[in-house]
Amino acid sequence: MSVTSSKVVIIGSGLVGTSIAYSSVIQGICTELVLIDAKKEKAKGEVMDLSHGLPFTSPMEIRGGEYEDCIGANVIVITAGSNQKPGESRLALAQKNVDILRSILEQILRVEQQAILLLVTNPVDVLTTITRSYSELKANRVIGSGTVLDTARFRYILSQHCQISPGSVHAYVVGEHGDSEVPLFSSVSVAGTPFSLLCQECNRSCGRDYQKEVIAEVRKAAYEIINRKGATYFGIGLSCTRILKAILNDERSVLTVSALLDDQYKEFGVAISVPSVLGKEGILRRLPLSITETENAQFLKSVRAIQESVHQIK
Ligand code: 2OP
Repeated sequence: MSVTSSKVVIIGSGLVGTSIAYSSVIQGICTELVLIDAKKEKAKGEVMDLSHGLPFTSPMEIRGGEYEDCIGANVIVITAGSNQKPGESRLALAQKNVDILRSILEQILRVEQQAILLLVTNPVDVLTTITRSYSELKANRVIGSGTVLDTARFRYILSQHCQISPGSVHAYVVGEHGDSEVPLFSSVSVAGTPFSLLCQECNRSCGRDYQKEVIAEVRKAAYEIINRKGATYFGIGLSCTRILKAILNDERSVLTVSALLDDQYKEFGVAISVPSVLGKEGILRRLPLSITETENAQFLKSVRAIQESVHQIK
């Protein structure tokens, strides 16, 4: 069976970039993987280390590269930048990481303007918005990892509570990938059974107090991990590999990635995460939100948090 060739370039060989690389190698999502980092020897060491595992995985060409290697990439993943220190918000990183991003984009766009860009560096919604200002890029091909990881955290927490596989819990987090993100309890379901009905059946107290606890747990998950191990990278690595698979395999799966498109969310003027259909062309369409008034107020508050941060960028 002929294997369609696919090329992924990862900018930044830090913990997040290499976790995406490692997860991509294990899952065999592409035929060519290029790691680019300002620290060339670091990137080379990561390439060597990953390549030595290839006898155990699907065939893949893994190599270190220069920005010229972005030519012909299907997806270019941008992970370079500073990460949160304990207690530091993602938005606090905005100006510093936007400055780094602009330098990276100049080097990418000098050689490649067709590839899909997957922004991961935080604050990812702000960086996705700034990237969208580079007009030669098609809006639906500028994608932020958004709340895909937060949605996974939400599903995992609920799966533990309900003792049901995370893959069978349908739950979404929308808005900012950050402190104002909005886990949508009103649309949580298992096999079409709304969470509210499920709880009656499991005789657990899953009322407002429990839901507030879960919302807080999802929002502070990264802080809790960073306080213990200094950074997060496995969850975001798997989340980004999931996004890459949806694109490379033209899955048309629904993931809560971040984007700024000329669609029903255009009025916000910033990249924001909502359920989006992903395929080889990027975001094919975004779904309307069916949420409560309270959730909508939280969503608009989340939009404002991103707008205020983007407005302060010099
Ligand atoms: C996370 O949520 C830090 O944005 C990263 O794990």
